[in-house]
Amino acid sequence: MKDENVKARLVARDEQTEDKQLDTKLRPKTLAEYIGQTQIKANLHIFLEAAKQRHEPIEHVLLYGPPGLGKTTLAHIIAQEMGAAIKVTSGPAIERAGDLAAILTNLEPGEILFIDEIHRLNKVIEEVLYPAMEEAALDLVIGKGPSARTLRLDLPRFTLIGATTRYHLISSPLRNRFGATFRLNFYNNQEMEQIVERSAKLIMVKLAPGAASEIANRSRATPRIANRLLKRVRDYVQVKGMGAVTAELAKAALDQLAVDPLGLDDLDRQILRVIIEKFKGGPVGLNSIAAALQEEVGTIEEIYEPFLMQLGFLARTPRGRVATAAAYEHLGLEASLSKQEKFV
Ligand code: ADE
Repeated sequence: MKDENVKARLVARDEQTEDKQLDTKLRPKTLAEYIGQTQIKANLHIFLEAAKQRHEPIEHVLLYGPPGLGKTTLAHIIAQEMGAAIKVTSGPAIERAGDLAAILTNLEPGEILFIDEIHRLNKVIEEVLYPAMEEAALDLVIGKGPSARTLRLDLPRFTLIGATTRYHLISSPLRNRFGATFRLNFYNNQEMEQIVERSAKLIMVKLAPGAASEIANRSRATPRIANRLLKRVRDYVQVKGMGAVTAELAKAALDQLAVDPLGLDDLDRQILRVIIEKFKGGPVGLNSIAAALQEEVGTIEEIYEPFLMQLGFLARTPRGRVATAAAYEHLGLEASLSKQEKFV
């Protein structure tokens, strides 16, 4: 597949083109406006206040966690709370050491540099960052071969904020140079509802009681998905010529988009159905599931399976994938429990 299908997926956590404008508009601007991640907020508050009282830039910050939970939003909030300007770039956008050197030498004192997907920086470029982070210095190599020399340039004091979905791919020398590391968690239902309600107000959509939770519960604990679904529900209600979004209308819109009450889409359900109906509930190898659905193995493994496992619908066993009793129940199927219990 069918990379395009993955990109167009309504419940994908990754940022899609259509999200960009919405994300910017709905993004909370201050810590007080930011819903959820309570512990991170409390720790960040102290961290920021202490630096402000000392009139110093904050130490470098690393934010990690699944896509769509608000890492970029938090980076902007940190800049806003510090009254600092922020320059935004990403690991894959920095192709050569010279690109990074140009960015670093153009920073103003106290400015924040945000590098998204920092795990995708290559090693040579990463090494330019080490002295920059530690000593606000840039080591340039001039010339080649035996006559090569290094020249050290002083940089302004700046703060690096790195964000990543893949913490384990960041080398330990880089990890160790961050003064604070925060892991973002999935949001609970109550927080998700508050986020939907806040977003609805900002895009001037009237939600009747129960509508926010209908959208929130189908959003995979991920604000970016909630905002995307809210927008689709708004379209549906507008075209149907209705006023406020009732719970029934939200449900009808999302049912029509094939996003079910737990946020599963068609392919999520097809994966479970194949395991249950074609392979008697498993265990079955990933290759067989992929072949039966004419999908790529990698797509199923990396994009679809994590959420099914998080819900406890799918288990990976040494002999293959198994659909759990909860998966049978969600699909309204009878579980052949004796077989299931052997593996799960
Ligand atoms: N929009 C997206 N994420 C949010 C959050 N954590 N709080 C408030 N609004 C949001």
